[in-house]
Parts: sequence; structure tokens; C-alpha cells
Amino acid sequence: MTSSPIRYERHDNVAVIVSDNPPVNALGAAVRQGLEAYVKQAVADETIGAIVIRCDGKTFFAGADITEFGKPMQDPPLPFLVDMIEASTKPVVAAIHGTALGGGLEVALSCHYRVAVPSAKLGVPEVKLGLLPGAGGTQRLPRVAGVRLALEMCATGNPISAKRAQEAGLVDRIVGEDSLAADAISYAREVVGRPIPRASERSVSPEPETVEAFRRENAKRFRGFDAPAANIACVEKATQVPFEEGVQFERQEFMKLMMGVQSAAQRHIFFAERQAAKIDDVPADTALRPIRKVGVIGAGTMGGGISMNFLSAGIPVTIVEMQQDALDRGTGVMRKNYEASAAKGRMKPEQVEAAMGALTPTLNLQDLADCDLVIEAVYESMDVKKEIFAKLDGICKPGAILASNTSYLDIDEIASVTKRPEDVLGMHFFSPANVMKLLEVVRGAKTAPDVLATVMSLAKKIGKVAVVAGVTYGFIGNRMLMPRQVEANKLLMEGATPEQIDRVHVAFGMPMGPFQMSDLAGVDIGWHRDPSRIENIRDALCAEGRWGQKKQAGFYDYDEKRTPSPSPRVQQIIDEFRAKSGATVREVTDQEIVERTIYPMVNEGALILEEGKAQRASDIDVVWIYGYGWSVYRGGPMFWAQNEETLPKIVAGLEKHGFTVARTLKDAAASGGRLK
Ligand code: 3HC
Repeated sequence: MTSSPIRYERHDNVAVIVSDNPPVNALGAAVRQGLEAYVKQAVADETIGAIVIRCDGKTFFAGADITEFGKPMQDPPLPFLVDMIEASTKPVVAAIHGTALGGGLEVALSCHYRVAVPSAKLGVPEVKLGLLPGAGGTQRLPRVAGVRLALEMCATGNPISAKRAQEAGLVDRIVGEDSLAADAISYAREVVGRPIPRASERSVSPEPETVEAFRRENAKRFRGFDAPAANIACVEKATQVPFEEGVQFERQEFMKLMMGVQSAAQRHIFFAERQAAKIDDVPADTALRPIRKVGVIGAGTMGGGISMNFLSAGIPVTIVEMQQDALDRGTGVMRKNYEASAAKGRMKPEQVEAAMGALTPTLNLQDLADCDLVIEAVYESMDVKKEIFAKLDGICKPGAILASNTSYLDIDEIASVTKRPEDVLGMHFFSPANVMKLLEVVRGAKTAPDVLATVMSLAKKIGKVAVVAGVTYGFIGNRMLMPRQVEANKLLMEGATPEQIDRVHVAFGMPMGPFQMSDLAGVDIGWHRDPSRIENIRDALCAEGRWGQKKQAGFYDYDEKRTPSPSPRVQQIIDEFRAKSGATVREVTDQEIVERTIYPMVNEGALILEEGKAQRASDIDVVWIYGYGWSVYRGGPMFWAQNEETLPKIVAGLEKHGFTVARTLKDAAASGGRLK
């Protein structure tokens, strides 16, 4: 028999029930059973005056155990447990440290009092899993913390600080950071004999305007998601009907979300993100190389953004440029970006100074000699990159990790010019590099396991979600983008417009379509090498200076505020190319656009897996969610393909349009299997 994760301590007249269920004290069956048994025992014991519930380890309960979702629920269910705690005839105090999240906060809300350490965070992040707090949270939270804050917490899922929780009445006392256990017991002694305040018995006033205003203000932010609206509806219900009725409504809505594909997708991504950090053939306990100082070559948009990640995490950066003016411009942009964050209240002015103070700008590559990691972020030219890596090989200390930020190029070829290919790998950041969460870590044929493990761990430290990719043109994300772009261009020739194709992608849940993306990134990327050739629509746009948003003209026309509108000139150019090609122009349906631009991405993903260039299908999903803004409620292309659209449908669609279908995709569709 396994021992219970819950233990019972007695401190005179106070019973302390302690959970020790690493890593995050999730409220799995054994935890719930232990809590139920010991609360009953304490209530029955006449010598006990009050009860404290607290957790060992790094955090208070971080929620229901998500791994139990979709399986038969073991007794006691969480909603039953929280009702039982609240009904206790002895006062119960929740002692909070770390993060009281989801079901964890619902347990705390069912306690009669809450004390917390200053660093604690409280939240109901269920919405991020496509769910809502399903153990009375949507009904108790507005009663304790007010309607506005409850709406905000439930619908956004963002946690609040202990201080803010105290101001809202959600925390009764902030106690010592290092004396939670003792302070909670003292607090419990103070409340022995007082009338017991129960959240479910408190009244909450109807606030229809608050609810409506919140809905209105956040409509855009929640576009496409089911869960935020359900969370809002539950909080609204709390203001309209008695507690029991509200709880029933909450239960119904919770079950609806739980059965839906959006929550399955969002839960998939929660685990996929964590799984992506694991490298199949590198042990988790691999000794890491210390990274105390980072070098970045190139102070352009990418180099500056990359540097900011490390500076913000307190890691000093030496940034190298060739010319003083470029160096000044680059560091100036970094400062401006930090100052903009400070103006929005996301940073304190002293943090701006600390970050910029840890930056050493230089024109001398030799200054990288003492860096533990050097990231090259110059423009995409194999020759230039090789030249830099050969120099770095001579300059950098032994054991330094040498990384390239290339988006496409062969890391093995770059590594081959050094005498230490085992120290070389790719770190492909996504623009803007200080904002986008994805980092593709490109593993070369000779990259050492500890080099890979060090960079994966460093990625987490700087707030990135890292995915391991193999050496292949465009790695995972950009390689999958290529067939999409090819087909989008063909569709233009056949009768679709840029607006139609983009609209289909946005309706699908992407932040923008292929042509909007092109305009944003620069239609002219890669064109300047041979501006004399005008072979396709894009070349013709570039030749006319329609380089995208930066020129207020690309596939769209833009006004000063960068609002796009369809361009008659672009339509003319498209018509000219259509006429020249002699193709018959026809009506293209939205469905065909999905089949010809999104299905091929899935096909390419399957090929990437077949070739071993991604570790697992879920890693590809992580790339698309965090690198390209694929909607999390669709779980990434491979999840969508397998769970929503279905593989047989995709294979049939690809075949109908004449694509060569990946073998594994065909096999999985035929056998009802899945892509690994
Ligand atoms: N259930 C099961 N496993 C969980 C879990 C949960 N609620 N939360 C985290 N884990 C696991 C992770 O999968 C990970 O496992 P791994 O090591 O095998 O990959 C491990 O715990 C550590 O997690 P992190 O790597 O995320 O650790 P961090 O320290 O970075 O973050 C955290 C800790 C802030 C607690 C973060 O894990 C988190 O946000 N967890 C989810 C919280 C959540 O969504 N709670 C609501 C659950 S739904 C619910 O409560 C429904 C109820 O209303 C009925």
C-alpha cells in the first residue's frame, strides 16, 4: 500500500492537515481522500478548536490533478470535498504559499479564513485549459472578492498577488514569508470560538452593468474561445440565483466544456509544452554548463531582441556590431523598448537601468572571449556565418556554446568550420525575439548532449518554450510554412484574392493570413538579391516598391495607422499574371483554401516526423502555438488534424488536390492510428 500524501499534526487545540504531494500538490484522489478523512477526524475531536490546511513543498494546491481528467472520478469528488470543508463546525484556515490555483483556490475559498505569505499568488487558471472553476469557485469567488475581480480572475485565468488578494478580502492576513506554518496556527487560535464565516452564505449584489461592460471590453481578446464566456456566465449567475442553483449551473457548464474539443486541445498544449522540454535520448539529470555571460553578434532587430531576453533575466550580455552607428542604433532601440515597458507599468525604471547596465556594447569580436554562450544573429548568408564561426572558434574559451540564430540554414555546415562542432547548435528565436515565446533549438549531427540540455534549460530561465528541431531547411515552423505559401500563391492565380485567403486563415483562428504576414514581415525579404527578375506576383509588387507595411503598400494598401484595405493596383497585377499564364480563373471556395493551405502543413509535419526532425507530433503543435499564433483552442496543426478534422478527411483532401501524401499520414489514416 502506498502511504498517504496527507498527514495530521496536532498543535494543542489546533489540528494541522498537511499535504505533501510533489511536484505541485495537485488535488488527486489520494489527496482528496486524506483531506476528507482528517477534516472529519478534527471535527469529531472535541479537544480541537480550529483546523489549518497547508502544504509542504514549493506550493499550496496548484489545482485539480489534470491527469485524472477524462477518467472515472474517484471519491470524494472535489465539489463534495469543498462543501464538506466549508460545512465544518470548527473554523478552517488555509495557509497559502506558492500558487493557490484552480481547485486549490477553491479549497481555500471553502476554508473560513485564508492567510498567505507575501510572495503567494492566487488564481483560477482553468480558463487556460478551456475550463472553468468547477468546484464552486465561480460562485464563491464573487461572494468573497467582488464581481469585477471574480470576472477578471475567472475569464482571464491570470493570478493575483497576495497583496491584491488581501485588498479584495480574499486573504485575511499576510504572514511572514518564512513563518507560515507557525503564523497560521497562531491565527487559527485567534479565531477559535468566533462565528464561522462561510463564503456560500454571503450575499452578492447583482451588477448587470459590470458584467456587460466586462463582456464588451474583452470581446476581442476572447474571440474564438468557448471558456471565457462560460466563466463570465457562471459569475453572472452567482449574482442572480441562490448559491445551490449557481453551483448546479456551474457544474453543467463545466461538463459541457470538459467534453468539448477546445478544452481537450488546451489541456493537450499544457502537457505538450512541458513534454517539449524533454529530450528523448538525453537524461534529465545531465550536468549543465554554467551560463553566466552571453555574447550576441548583431545589434539589429533580432540581435537586440535576443539580448533583451537575457538582460531581463539578469544575465549580462556583450553585444557586437561592425559599425558604431549600427551599434548605437541597436542599443538605442533596446532602451526604447524597455522604456516603453516601463511606461506601461510592466517594469520599474530601476529595472530598465539594471538591464541596460548589464549590457556591454562593443565593435570587437575579441570581447566575446569570456562568454559562456555566443549567439550569432547576422543576416542569412552561409558564407558570412561560416566566417563568423571560424573566428569564434579562435576567440571563445573552451566549453563555450556557439549558437546561430539562422531561420533556415544548415547548422552542420556552419559547425563544420569549427574544431568544436559538439559545442555548436541553432537557437532560432522568433520576431520580436523579446516577446515571442518560441525557441527552436536546432540539434546538429554532432551537438553534445550537455550542450543541448544546457540550452533547453536556459530557454526556460529566459521565459521561452523550447522545442528541439533537427537540421532541415526551415526547421519545423518555417519548413511547414513553405507549402502553405506556395499554395496560397497558386490560389491567387486561380481566382482567390489575398483578402479571401487571409480571411479564411483568420476565421480558422490564426492571428493573420499568409499575405498579411508577408506584408508585416516584408514582401521584399529575399528579393533584393536579384531585383531584375519579375517572375511572379510578389516580384512585381517588390519592383513597384510595395514591400509591405513599412512602405504602406504590399498585398494591401495601408493608411498612416497601418489599417489595411484591398488594393486595386494589386488586383491589376494579379489579373495581368493570370492573363499571362492563360489559366482559367474560377471561383475558389473557402473550403478549398483550407484543404490546400492547411492540409499541406499537416502533411509536411508528418514528413518532419518521419525524418526524425521533430521528436513528437505535440512538439510541432507547440511550435505553431508559440511561434506563429496558431489558436491554442485548436491545439496546433497535428492535434487539429488528429482530433478535429480527422486524418482520413485530410488524406482524402490532399489526394483530391494532387498532393503526394506522407506515408505515415496515409498509414495512420488507414489504420485509425496516430502520428507519433
Ligand atoms: N495536475 C497534474 N499535474 C500538474 C498540474 C496539475 N494541476 N500542474 C502541474 N503539473 C505537473 C506538470 O505537468 C509538470 O509535470 P512534469 O514535471 O512531469 O512535466 C510538473 O507538475 C511541474 O509543473 P511545471 O513544470 O509547470 O512547474 P512550474 O513550477 O513551472 O509551475 C505551476 C508550477 C504554476 C503550478 C504550473 O504547473 C501550473 O500552472 N499548473 C497548472 C495549474 C492549473 O491549471 N490548475 C487548475 C487545474 S484545473 C482545476 O483545478 C479544475 C477544478 O476547478 C475542478
